[in-house]
Amino acid sequence: MANKISLTNDYPVIKNSDQLYNRALGLIPSVTQTLAKGPGQWVKGVAPKYLVKGKGSHVWDADGNEYIDYMMAVGPLSLGYAYPKVDEAIKKQLEDGITFSMMHPLEVEVAELISGIIPNAEAVRYSKTGADATSAAVRLARAYTGKNKILCCGYHGWHDWYIAVTARNLGIPEAVQAISFTFNYNDIDSVKNSIDDDVAAVILEPVVFQEPKNNFLQKLAELCEQKNVVLIFDEMWTGFRMAVGGAQEYFGITPDLATYSKAVANGMPISILTGKRKIMNLANEDIFFYTTFGGEALSLAAVKATIDELREKNVPKYLNEQGKKLKDGYNSIAQKLGMDYTKAIGYNWRSMAAFDEKAGDPLVQKSLMQQEMIKRGVLWQGFHNMSFSHSDADADYTLQALEESLSVLKKAVDENKLKEMLRGEPVQPVFRKVDNFNMKPVKK
Ligand SMILES: Cc1ncc(COP(=O)(O)O)c(C=O)c1O
Repeated sequence: MANKISLTNDYPVIKNSDQLYNRALGLIPSVTQTLAKGPGQWVKGVAPKYLVKGKGSHVWDADGNEYIDYMMAVGPLSLGYAYPKVDEAIKKQLEDGITFSMMHPLEVEVAELISGIIPNAEAVRYSKTGADATSAAVRLARAYTGKNKILCCGYHGWHDWYIAVTARNLGIPEAVQAISFTFNYNDIDSVKNSIDDDVAAVILEPVVFQEPKNNFLQKLAELCEQKNVVLIFDEMWTGFRMAVGGAQEYFGITPDLATYSKAVANGMPISILTGKRKIMNLANEDIFFYTTFGGEALSLAAVKATIDELREKNVPKYLNEQGKKLKDGYNSIAQKLGMDYTKAIGYNWRSMAAFDEKAGDPLVQKSLMQQEMIKRGVLWQGFHNMSFSHSDADADYTLQALEESLSVLKKAVDENKLKEMLRGEPVQPVFRKVDNFNMKPVKK
């Protein structure tokens, strides 16, 4: 029988998941289309690999096991799986058509809606993926400034200009690698040292897990203005989640360009580029940014319904409150158990459990926690990606599961049995790096 969410479960049976995985091996390179959803981020041998259904904050895997989900599709499900108001909007639009031979009125309606919410949205464009939007922003910045180099911080998608800064840069021309660099978050000097006459744009996620310190974002905006560098906020995570108007609204800082996706459409594939008219106007005729599905109507209908609900229910406030229970709860359990080597860090709406190597390999600690949470019916990668569907009952249950799983981790650490108690292969490091890699050599 498939597992329900219960503290007394055995480890789930994952036979169907494994069968699907074996069919995919050799046919689908890397097996997954999204690294964070792929098998490398889940304990092989214990975690399911395929999900077939979701409702609210709960999901069911290919073997029928039920879990509370804290990944929420790696961010998009701000309201929850199969959220009625959004699904009704999608179904209603489906009756009239998905994509058309001419523009659709929703393109205008949604642009008007967004321009009333996002502070820098003097102009609005749509595309399908986050990488489309960040790459369009980078192209606009180069066109506007007549310069080439890009300084970035965070993860910005799979396209050449960004992947050039990572270790996985095979296939990217050296000429591109020579003009993309990173800087360190909260380190204004690392930006100052890297800005030269050829820097077109600074792009960053306004926050990841650290809070900005010493007016970092403000100083960055001033520096970019002084140096004629386009400031781009990549708000894929912060947008429509940290506040409905994202980090721009939350911090009161208006970047030249900003990019959105994930939370804005509750799971439908759409990305949004907003920005100051003087730069965005280059997309009238000068730069090329067009794609067949750019105005696809189901996603636009989903955006409209999602934004209505985010505003009406003040969802960012709820995510913050519900997430605080988990973040604070995690930390008070760890403290009570005397585990000074693990801590939940970050913002309440997306906190992350961090593990110190003084207690053993952090990836093995995280894997053991994941194994024990999955056993108890919680799909957990160390993140608490909150949605409007995570109920009080979910939070209470999750805290119990965390308490039991942290106790298992403590025992493993105390008895030096971390690897022994892990029943599968540990998870791999996450791809995204934020600090101290591929910095631009300091100017002479
Ligand atoms: C901050 C940020 N920027 C850009 C992207 C790329 O978005 P996509 O995977 O939709 O291309 C992501 C994806 O996770 C992201 O988190």
